[in-house]
Amino acid sequence: MDYSEHFVYRDDQLYAEDCRVADLAAKYGTPLYVYSRESLRQAFADYDSSLSLPHTICYSVKANSNLAVLQLMASLGSGFDIVSGGELARVIAAGGDPSKVVYSGVGKREDEIRYALEKGIYCFNAESEMELQTISDVAVSMNVKAPVALRVNPAVDPHTHHHIATGLKTSKFGVAWEDVPAVYEYASKLPGICIRGVDCHIGSQITTLSPFREMAEKIRDLAVTLKDRYGIESVDVGGGLGINYDNDGTPAVSDYMKLLEEYFGDLGLRLVLEPGRSMVGNAGILVTKVQYIKKAAKNFAIVDAGMNDMIRPALYTAWMNISEVDRSDRSAADKYTVVGPICESSDKLGEDRLLSVKKGDLLVQFSAGAYGFSMSSNYNSRPRAAEVMVKGGEDFEIRTRETVEDLWRGEHLL
Ligand code: LLP
Repeated sequence: MDYSEHFVYRDDQLYAEDCRVADLAAKYGTPLYVYSRESLRQAFADYDSSLSLPHTICYSVKANSNLAVLQLMASLGSGFDIVSGGELARVIAAGGDPSKVVYSGVGKREDEIRYALEKGIYCFNAESEMELQTISDVAVSMNVKAPVALRVNPAVDPHTHHHIATGLKTSKFGVAWEDVPAVYEYASKLPGICIRGVDCHIGSQITTLSPFREMAEKIRDLAVTLKDRYGIESVDVGGGLGINYDNDGTPAVSDYMKLLEEYFGDLGLRLVLEPGRSMVGNAGILVTKVQYIKKAAKNFAIVDAGMNDMIRPALYTAWMNISEVDRSDRSAADKYTVVGPICESSDKLGEDRLLSVKKGDLLVQFSAGAYGFSMSSNYNSRPRAAEVMVKGGEDFEIRTRETVEDLWRGEHLL
């Protein structure tokens, strides 16, 4: 899917489905996140309809955890990949089914483990012996057995930004490949554990299939052994494909699903996938207004969205496409670095972009639906943005813009 399929220009005006983005900005203010419902629906269907073996798509909540996004995913039949008790509470509040939830992460707290057991999740993806012991202890104290998959670290280089590579030998994630047999044996002897599957996740924004193939080769052989020895029922291959931010030439989701069928189709196991970015990334945009133009050694377009609203360029030097919302007059196009109001030099949305802008114009950052709002903060005491979902020509406010009073909720004067 091309990144702009549901965000297109008609007569040089940007539309989100059939809503004019300039109208949405006037109605809800800026900075504003806008999501296309149809794009979300299609992204889920891309995964779901390409697989014929038994499977559960567990949308990775961290990518975009807005209740309405979770509600839509749940209504499409999605399960959820969570990494905290907070994310589980969100899934439940949105109407998600806990029995389709997998719980990953290296640092689960005892109260979070208890909460997940009470709600009856599908399984914990456990990442260490000590965590297994804790999960077992909590389960025994509740008189239940905890369903567990071991997150194994297959030591595959995903060729992505080092901040988001998780399957390297040196990563904090998963059980080291050479320790996997011993840790399964250990888990099988714990009184509160029932072994349900095997899990791995090698990284995010992976734009070629070869790391996935390398991972599948290793995990398939392991899954065969584990099925024999412990009767596992599922194999979880972690996050989804990377997306096109530019013309990155990312493979089609259906090609990745074909690869998974090839390796796991004949095992009689349930395939679990945890896609995040590819479900929501290209289904969202960030709309921002130009506050000032400043011409110095560089030309700066100073906008009202900062790194607190969208941290990806600052944190990962991520390149994200930026354009004018109204492209009817590009005669004054020049190179601009698009910066926010935050007091940090890394506060950039994009560098040296060819734009025709003046004070008051609207700009759009594409592919902002994943790890955009969910990573936003109140840094510099900035209320977080509003979020809107469009469906055809209708718009729904799915998160009200924060007020300044919201900023100090829970704080107390001496
Ligand atoms: N499962 C696990 C265990 C994960 O850690 C992640 C992402 C996913 C699934 C979803 O992966 P995806 O399909 O989105 O690639 N904030 C970064 C990305 C961090 C990814 C963390 N883990 C960014 O903005 O690029």
